[in-house]
Amino acid sequence: MAEGDPKVFPVSPLLFLPETVGEFAVYLRQGGRLVLYVNKQETFTRAHRDRLMDSGVERVFIASQDREGYDYYVQMNLGRLLSDESIPLEERVQAWRQASASIVKDVFQEKLPRPLSKKRFSDVLALVDATTDFFSNPESLRRIAKFINHGFSLYHHAIGVMVLTVSVLHACEGVSRREMVDSCLGAMLHDMGKTRIPAPVLGKKPEHMSEEERGMIHSHPMMGAGMCLQMPVSKLTQDIVLFHHERHDGSGYPSGLLGEEAPLPVRVVSACNVYDSMTRNLPGRAAKRPYDALSTMNARREYYDPQVLRRLIMVLANAEIA
Ligand SMILES: [Fe+2]
Ligand SMILES: [Fe+2]
Repeated sequence: MAEGDPKVFPVSPLLFLPETVGEFAVYLRQGGRLVLYVNKQETFTRAHRDRLMDSGVERVFIASQDREGYDYYVQMNLGRLLSDESIPLEERVQAWRQASASIVKDVFQEKLPRPLSKKRFSDVLALVDATTDFFSNPESLRRIAKFINHGFSLYHHAIGVMVLTVSVLHACEGVSRREMVDSCLGAMLHDMGKTRIPAPVLGKKPEHMSEEERGMIHSHPMMGAGMCLQMPVSKLTQDIVLFHHERHDGSGYPSGLLGEEAPLPVRVVSACNVYDSMTRNLPGRAAKRPYDALSTMNARREYYDPQVLRRLIMVLANAEIA
C-alpha cells in the first residue's frame, strides 16, 4: 500500500487493547510506505503495543474498507478504553465520540425512516458533538465508562432513546438549542442509576424479581440523579434522569408528577424510553415490532403526553411498521 493512499485512516495505537482481536488490519508508515503490522483477526498482543510505544509511534493506519470492523471493535471495547487511565483523556473522548456516532448510525438504520435520515443524522451528530465538553470532564468520563462496562446494551439503549428524543423535539416548536443539547445528554444518561444495580438483577424478568429487587429497579432514577450532582449537568438534564419514569396521568415514579408538571423534554424521553425498550430484546422478552410497540403504547395512551405520542408516531411514520 503506497503512502498517501486515501483509502486508509489514522488512529492512535493506544486505542488497541492488548490481547484483543479486530476485524481489521493495522498498518505502520515506514519509509514512505504503509506496511502491515497486525493482520485482520490476528491477536493484538502486549508485545505489539510495547514495540509501538518504544518506537514512539503516534499514529497507525487502518484501511477504509475495514472501517466497519474498526468501529465495531471500538464499540465492543468502549468501556475498557474509557476507563484505561494510561490512555490520554483526549484519545478516550475521541473513542467515545466515534463509538457513539457509530451507534447513532446503527439506530438510524434499524429504527428510523430512510427519507428523513440523512439530515437528521447530521443534526444528531452535531448534538452529540455539543456534549463533548461534558464527556471531556474526567469525572463524567469515569462514570460513563462504568455505565458502559455495566452492560453495553444499556448504552445502546441510551443512544436509541437519545436519537428518538432529539427527533421528536425537532418536531416540537419553541425548543431552544440549549434545551436540545441538555435533552440529548439527559437521554444518554437517563439510566445511569442502573450502574448501582447488580447485573444479575438487571438481567431478570420482572415477574421473577423479589420485592427488594423491584425496589432496586425503582430507585435507579433517584440514584442517577444523585450521580448527576457530581457531574457538570444542567437542571434539565438532571430532571430527565430523575423523572424519566413519570407518566402523564401521574401513575409513574419516583414523584407521580402529573402532565405538564414534568417539562416537555422529560415527557419526550419518558415516551421514547418506553418505545425503545419495547423494540429491543430484553431478558425473557423478544423485541416488539414497531407497529406492535406503538399499538401497546396507544392502548395505554393515558401514560403519555398526547402531543408527544402523536409526534413520536409521526417521526416513525415512514419506518417499517408493518
Ligand atoms: Fe429507566
Ligand atoms: Fe431506559
